Amino acid sequence: MTKKIILSGSTVTGNLTLGNYIGAINNWTKLQEEYECLYMVADLHALTVRQEPKELQARILSFYAQYIACGLDPKKNTLFVQSHVPAHAELQWILTTLTPIGYLNRMTQFKEKSEKTNEILAGLYMYPVLMAADILLYQANLVPVGEDQRQHLELSRDIVTFFHNRYGDTFTMPTAYIPKMGAKIMSLQDPTKKMSKSDENDKSFISIIDPPKSIEKKIKSSVTDSETVVSYDPEKKAGLANLLTIYSVLTGKNIDSIVASYQGKMYGHVKVDLAEIVVETFKPVQEKYHDLMKNQDHLLKLMKEGADKANAKANQTLTNVYKKIGLVNL
Ligand code: AMP
Ligand code: TRP
Repeated sequence: MTKKIILSGSTVTGNLTLGNYIGAINNWTKLQEEYECLYMVADLHALTVRQEPKELQARILSFYAQYIACGLDPKKNTLFVQSHVPAHAELQWILTTLTPIGYLNRMTQFKEKSEKTNEILAGLYMYPVLMAADILLYQANLVPVGEDQRQHLELSRDIVTFFHNRYGDTFTMPTAYIPKMGAKIMSLQDPTKKMSKSDENDKSFISIIDPPKSIEKKIKSSVTDSETVVSYDPEKKAGLANLLTIYSVLTGKNIDSIVASYQGKMYGHVKVDLAEIVVETFKPVQEKYHDLMKNQDHLLKLMKEGADKANAKANQTLTNVYKKIGLVNL
């Protein structure tokens, strides 16, 4: 039986965070045995916000190394950089011709991001269509994403329907694959907000490559309420609940048993132990990351192999799409 296809990616802004690790990459590594997986460094998506070219370039390499360091095996998966596969931009154009702007106007991520700036760029508006192209090019069945991406996935599904209604069956209908637990890790400084790699306050997130001392500091100074009894209450004690969620996901223990083990103890105890858990989780990841970054030729070679595999598959779909819509293939 052929394996089901999985595609996912992360936008190259800031640094991958503990939120990305729990909500995305850690789940990806568990899927690589059972499915045919493609994981992408979404560099074209990053251009929807202003990027310093030198920094962007360094970050693309760094993200690629972080994917591998987190356990994604370039032999088992197709690990590639979005801009190395021209078909993404090409299919996006075709899909924009089928996407009503009313659908794009409803995207909450666009609304939120555009409220924060007075220079609203067309690229930011089209971002979900590029995401649909990313997914549809590889005929992905499942798309592992965090809760925040659910709406974009729904749009990809709508676009498939629009395309099929006009041109007949062409794409696999993708489904979001959202982990039940730890799907949304919150900011350490404001537990009502998602932990985000683009947050201006760098105390609000832990990056996968943060040095241990900095991880400890960020967890110890994380915002919690002024009560003392350790209990899990996402509404009244959102900060502590977030720490307990991270604790639970990283150790595999259920929250009740964690809470029980802190009876008679203070929040500070949870923080000290959690800092150690996070540091230990990232220790092997960071060692592997630094090794990979020392040999950039090797990293580029892996990127090229990933790009070749991805291009072969993407071009097949694009050729078929061009045929279906009546373009002339040479
Ligand atoms: P982004 O950092 O927005 O490019 O997201 C890359 C992937 O990580 C997506 O699947 C997100 O849903 C997931 N992700 C990002 N931040 C978090 C978070 N705080 N909690 C859980 N998942 C997250
Ligand atoms: N938009 C996603 C995010 O910010 C990243 C992404 C780009 C993606 N293309 C994708 C995720 C395709 C899944 C599938 O999280």
